[in-house]
Amino acid sequence: PESITIQELANRMAEKGADLVKALFKMGTPVTINEVIDQDTAELLVEEFGHRIQRVSDSDVELGIEGDDDAPETLKSRAPVVTIMGHVDHGKTSLLDALRGTNVVSGESGGITQHIGAYQVKTKNGDVITFLDTPGHEAFSEMRARGANVTDIVILVVAADDGLMPQTIEAINHTKAAGVPMIVAINKIDKPEANAQKVRERLLSEEVVVEDMGGDVQDVQVSALKRTGLDELIEKVLLQAELLELGANPDRPAEGNVIEAKLDKGRGPVATVLVRKGTLKVGDTFVVGAESGKVRAMVNDKGQNVKVAGPSTPVEVLGLSGVPMAGDQLSVVENEARAREVAAYRAEQKTRKRTTSAPTSFEHMFSALN
Ligand code: GTP
Ligand code: MG
Repeated sequence: PESITIQELANRMAEKGADLVKALFKMGTPVTINEVIDQDTAELLVEEFGHRIQRVSDSDVELGIEGDDDAPETLKSRAPVVTIMGHVDHGKTSLLDALRGTNVVSGESGGITQHIGAYQVKTKNGDVITFLDTPGHEAFSEMRARGANVTDIVILVVAADDGLMPQTIEAINHTKAAGVPMIVAINKIDKPEANAQKVRERLLSEEVVVEDMGGDVQDVQVSALKRTGLDELIEKVLLQAELLELGANPDRPAEGNVIEAKLDKGRGPVATVLVRKGTLKVGDTFVVGAESGKVRAMVNDKGQNVKVAGPSTPVEVLGLSGVPMAGDQLSVVENEARAREVAAYRAEQKTRKRTTSAPTSFEHMFSALN
């Protein structure tokens, strides 16, 4: 193909989309993350980030610009992926609990979210929305960045009694860097000291201009506790999603991103994967980051075993050779030999990257140590 989106290219290079946007900005080409760039620009970026350009015909390694861009007529509409972000304790998990009719908060240790939760919600009209819950604690900055990079829409939760706090602002910055539209949920509106107008005004100084203030960012007052404003919030998410015209080809080998991965005592390496395109099936051979595997079983967000997972679906995948890294790309490949080959290549790339690039900030240093 002659073109690729920034996000797609970033995924293939295992880089952050925001970093590519920044690099292009520095080269004098301002773009948004979902924008399509031509092959020359893509090749420039690949080199800029120190990757090798490799075409499918050269080898099976797919780090290059080769193509599996799906033809427009193969695309079917898919559920929006919506990430919930905001400062610690502003009510992100409560809001998601209210939307899902569950109670995850009460099961969290200290009431603090420490990982990205991925869930699907079916609305009254039968629309499906995929939600990612992120932690608000300052220690989890990297997870917020990752959330912003795999999402279509961000819901920024701001507690109306507390207002804008450091991780609110950080979440705004991640969202802007990722070029993703934002909906502001002004939460805890039931509290006597709630002041929604103050939140809207304060958002102005972060250059987030809500509709009431003459801008185009949608906002909605909610109470996760009293369960008010939820229908309106869902409505606004669906409206935003419609504008994005989200589509994916379900009839092709699956590609997805690791949201989280861990070594489970009983089940071995387990990765929560968000399928982006194609349909992941039990029995599929895949490569994920520097690991490979064959899908032994898949478990959906309700704990049920499933045989297939289409675009925008989060699933736990069992059958990995090892624990991949969060953010890694999963790609289904034809056979195990190829999977091992690609995995080995990626492992080598990873070592090379580690030994040649010095950490540029404390944050990077920590993520390099993980
Ligand atoms: P982290 O994941 O740790 O960042 O927190 P969180 O944003 O997920 O907040 P959480 O949902 O855990 O809620 C924090 C506290 O706020 C809990 O005690 C909730 O009961 C309370 N809370 C959440 N939403 C509301 C609301 O709408 N009104 C009131 N009064 N309290 C709320
Ligand atoms: Mg939480």
